[in-house]
Amino acid sequence: MQDKVVVVVGATGGIGSALTHKLAPTGVRLVLAARDAVRLTTLANDLPGQVLSVPTDITYPQQVDTLIEKTIAEFGQIDILVNAAGAGILKPYNNLEPADLDNMLDVNLKGSFYTTQAAAEEMQKRKSGHICNVVGILGKHSMGMAAAYSASKFGVVGFSKCMAEELKRFGIKFTLFYFGGVDSPFWDNVNLKVDRKKMLSPETAANAIFFALSAEPQAVPMEINIQPDSHLFF
Ligand SMILES: NC(=O)c1ccc[n+]([C@@H]2O[C@H](COP(=O)([O-])OP(=O)(O)OC[C@H]3O[C@@H](n4cnc5c(N)ncnc54)[C@H](OP(=O)(O)O)[C@@H]3O)[C@@H](O)[C@H]2O)c1
Repeated sequence: MQDKVVVVVGATGGIGSALTHKLAPTGVRLVLAARDAVRLTTLANDLPGQVLSVPTDITYPQQVDTLIEKTIAEFGQIDILVNAAGAGILKPYNNLEPADLDNMLDVNLKGSFYTTQAAAEEMQKRKSGHICNVVGILGKHSMGMAAAYSASKFGVVGFSKCMAEELKRFGIKFTLFYFGGVDSPFWDNVNLKVDRKKMLSPETAANAIFFALSAEPQAVPMEINIQPDSHLFF
């Protein structure tokens, strides 16, 4: 990991910040992205090593381009992109407003599409890179109340698998993570009865991402599924 340049999008979130704390002591050069500049600075001040913060709203492709440009200007390359930004609107299908669907598609699907596309173009030049997209189990399994969220996450799986096909000849790996519930601020505004004590911890999710990033060069951990409990196999 030493000196690798890792862009973590959604760095201030539950999963993102646990990952940055796991990565920082390994000697990577970290780029932190999310919208809230104050929280980014607080996180950056907490981490050892070389850290660059770039306030970014991933729903705007121009801001994503700026994130990548600033990363290259500061560190000269991108080795790893982790897409851990997102939000959840979980409610009955007939209560979903057009704005809810727009929100889910803009942030979860289009936002991670833009970051993946922009980072991959840089990685392609160097014929090397690793893109980790935190999908969630609702990107492969259905659940009531999740129509809009799930639509966005199935979309992430779709574009990731297509881009992985295009980019494999450039030595670029993709790993998709299908976590069950993770006890993070993601759930703070979700109006569903859930038992957060039974969920995965953000550190468990971060450890799984770290595991994938630490794989030997010839090994591609393509998909990682982790549930908080024994579960049906999907
Ligand atoms: N928690 C779960 O149960 C769970 C399970 C499986 C998968 N996931 C997925 O894992 C990812 C991370 O979830 P989490 O649990 O860590 O959520 P979280 O704690 O709510 O963190 C979300 C992160 O995304 C950032 N973000 C939100 N909108 C953004 C935007 N438009 N542009 C840039 N950054 C944005 C937030 O920062 P700002 O608000 O400052 O922008 C924050 O850093 C999401 O994609 C989520 O769908 C979560």
